[in-house]
Amino acid sequence: MSDRPVLVFDSGLGGLSVLRELRVRMPDRRYLYIVDDAGFPYGDWQEEALATRILDLFAGLLETHQPQLVVIACNTASTLVLSQLRERFAVPFVGTVPAIKPAAEQTRSRLVSVLATPGTVQRQYTRGLIESFAADCEVQLVGSVRLAAMAEAYLRGGALDEAAIHQEIAPAFVEKDGRRTDIVVLACTHYPFLTNAFRKVAPWPVDWLDPAEAIARQAGKLMTGAPSTLPEGFDLAVFTAGHPDYTTRRLIHGFGLHC
Ligand code: DGL
Repeated sequence: MSDRPVLVFDSGLGGLSVLRELRVRMPDRRYLYIVDDAGFPYGDWQEEALATRILDLFAGLLETHQPQLVVIACNTASTLVLSQLRERFAVPFVGTVPAIKPAAEQTRSRLVSVLATPGTVQRQYTRGLIESFAADCEVQLVGSVRLAAMAEAYLRGGALDEAAIHQEIAPAFVEKDGRRTDIVVLACTHYPFLTNAFRKVAPWPVDWLDPAEAIARQAGKLMTGAPSTLPEGFDLAVFTAGHPDYTTRRLIHGFGLHC
């Protein structure tokens, strides 16, 4: 049974930022990357409809692919349905949620920002993380409608509009009583692909907190079975909208996935 894959799930290509860390930590596992591109972007979905969509999707995915572990490489989905997924299905789930706890531990200015989709910043789950772990910080929640799509276009070879990126990240930079934001939590898995651009247009240097390594560590703790007997070339990507276009296929192959 050790050839059962690790299923990595996102609405789009952002979860590849988590997949690459999973592979560093667990190179001897086989991966199945599921892209719900038919539902992308998740950021603007109404909560109930999105929860139903993801739960229904997983009923089929788990039946078809029998993974030994699922990594929800999407903050917008994890902050909404992680607990319901765990209640409903027996397979272990690792989620991706805003790294507010480590940010609160690392900040010196006590001014922290969370850059995410509009869905993630609205979630009760996110508010709960702030109350539990960052009560002594001022946390600025910044919901961006455009960044996930910009990251997708960039990954597919498109040019970046630096002025537009600046506009999206500017609200994350707060100055107050001589203090400045010193940590920005990347609370959407698409954003690590834009970090170089963020650095370039940021009003001042900050730490950009990417949780991918911590997620991979957590996943590693839950993987107990024997390593896969299948070689690397068996990693697959499946798109819910059907067969992806040439540019996407080329990109996906570049990440060592077949589709
Ligand atoms: N990658 C997803 C996340 O981490 C969101 C992208 C989307 O809007 O669908 O939140």
